[in-house]
Amino acid sequence: MKRIVMLASGRGSNFLAVASAITRGMIHGRCVGLIVDRRGTLAAVRAEECGIPVFLVDYPGFSGKSEYEEELTRTLGSLAPDLIVLAGYMKILGSAIIRDYAGRIINIHPSLLPSFPGLDAQGQALEYGVKISGCTVHFVDEGTDSGPVILQRAVPVLDDDDPKSLAERILHEEHIALPAAVSLFCEDRLRILGRTVIRLDSDFQEGRSGST
Ligand code: GAR
Repeated sequence: MKRIVMLASGRGSNFLAVASAITRGMIHGRCVGLIVDRRGTLAAVRAEECGIPVFLVDYPGFSGKSEYEEELTRTLGSLAPDLIVLAGYMKILGSAIIRDYAGRIINIHPSLLPSFPGLDAQGQALEYGVKISGCTVHFVDEGTDSGPVILQRAVPVLDDDDPKSLAERILHEEHIALPAAVSLFCEDRLRILGRTVIRLDSDFQEGRSGST
């Protein structure tokens, strides 16, 4: 059973989608903690309701980013995660954490990457005038929303969309994509080959995939 730690900064609907999938037995893992980077998040309330321990690493309470990252590193270390899930975590993770947990951090982003990385991806998509957008679950590397793609789900962009209506349509797909990616990771079915993430069949057995 993989130990999953989730990080969130706000509403926590993606956190809840993963937590619910775990409760329903759809993910072979358990969420050992939610880390939030500020006080008063709905994500923390939702975790408490699920009985999942909440750890506050309160960004405004630190004198700088490196002090914050040190505490975040300590908190993560104490939870010994097999997988870190960024579920609406709105900060850039420090490179030391990314290196320590290479290949074990995944993020959900509300666009079809590599289009529209960074903040306000839905607004960027509308501004650009694309007809299709969606969400991407990817492994985290040291760039911004630039790591190898695990899963993507597409939605149409409608003529009368505004950032809110497009965000809602994309969010619906995020709640499918993120639990699916976490499930694949927890079943050891993901391999990173360069920039490509290979998804192994569910009956794949390491070293026994040949014809004999
Ligand atoms: C989601 O749309 C997620 O994709 C986005 O923030 C929202 C969080 O919603 N994340 C990013 O933009 C990260 N770059 P939630 O708190 O309800 O899960």
